Amino acid sequence: MSDVHADPCHASAYLVRAAVTAPSPYNTQPWTFVAEDDDRGVEVHADGARRLLLADPRGREMTISCGAALFNIRLAVRHLGFNPVVECFPRPADPAFLARVAWGAYRRPAPEDERLFGALRRRRTVRGPFLADPLPPSLPDVLRGHARRAGATLDLVADRASRRHLAELVRSAEDARRSRPEYAAEQARWTWWPGEPRCDGIPVDADVTHPDATVFAGRDYAGLTRMFSAPAGGRPSGRGQGLVVILSTDHDDPAAWLRAGEALQRVLLEAAGHGVMAAFCTQPLEVPSLRGRIRQTLSGGAFPQMILRLGYPRCVRQLPRRPVTDVLRVAGAALA
Ligand SMILES: Cc1cc2nc3c(=O)[nH]c(=O)nc-3n(C[C@H](O)[C@H](O)[C@H](O)COP(=O)(O)O)c2cc1C
Repeated sequence: MSDVHADPCHASAYLVRAAVTAPSPYNTQPWTFVAEDDDRGVEVHADGARRLLLADPRGREMTISCGAALFNIRLAVRHLGFNPVVECFPRPADPAFLARVAWGAYRRPAPEDERLFGALRRRRTVRGPFLADPLPPSLPDVLRGHARRAGATLDLVADRASRRHLAELVRSAEDARRSRPEYAAEQARWTWWPGEPRCDGIPVDADVTHPDATVFAGRDYAGLTRMFSAPAGGRPSGRGQGLVVILSTDHDDPAAWLRAGEALQRVLLEAAGHGVMAAFCTQPLEVPSLRGRIRQTLSGGAFPQMILRLGYPRCVRQLPRRPVTDVLRVAGAALA
């Protein structure tokens, strides 16, 4: 297979347009896709050049992001009326080759597929406090079911003491990150000022809320904490934090990370279908000792892969994506 950019096949381009709406840390979009001969299937590859070298040395978050993109591809195939045939890690000698999705037999899309597909372009990452409106009472169970069917577990951090404990671990990871110049440098590579012609990364004005506006400290994309040591309203109360959940898996290897990504995307899309969006608090999962504490104290010994807050957003902003022609290559195309 020669990897060259070419006019993408139409069906694969359709699937990839759905895939790239997936979330990724710092909007790194760490994926590439290959259209196989005559649009017979599409391959999902991790793009190691876009991995966060410091925050994500093992490629865990990169693989989770690709798992979310893979779930979107499954969904788009079902939306078009076919059964997706998915093979994970089809070439063991090439660990970056995460999955191949081929077109299976005709299958009428299920109402759930259509609902999740319809939420693809509505889903957004939120930062800062949520509105106070209560979530639909049945939603936590529905989300748990989605995680389970994707091979993961979603635990609610329901009691106040556990939430406080988790918020302290997030705080401790975020404080460490803010004080270390090497992390600031990594962050700087993926944040940009309005007006820059970027189609990846995070614009510093993506969220103008102070990162300490909730008890779950947010990443300081714009360096606001260097200018204002505390949010305008003073120390955050417990309000606006939303429903706090931890997504975990029984194993902690690339296959589990890929599954976690698919589970994450199912949960995010189901929530988005109800107008409920997620804020991510993944900082302590990037610090092995803190991740170990979360595993022991909050996820029942399973490996925590994601920490989310879920709620109704005050505002959302759409972040850019790389064009399909940048991320989709055609297998076997002649060298230009
Ligand atoms: C593995 C993973 C970790 C993430 N961690 C954070 C985080 O700690 N803080 C945050 O604000 N967003 C986090 N995000 C969300 C990304 O910033 C977001 O997906 C990206 O900026 C694209 O925006 P969108 O999701 O609105 O399309 C994470 C996403 C993934 C997949």
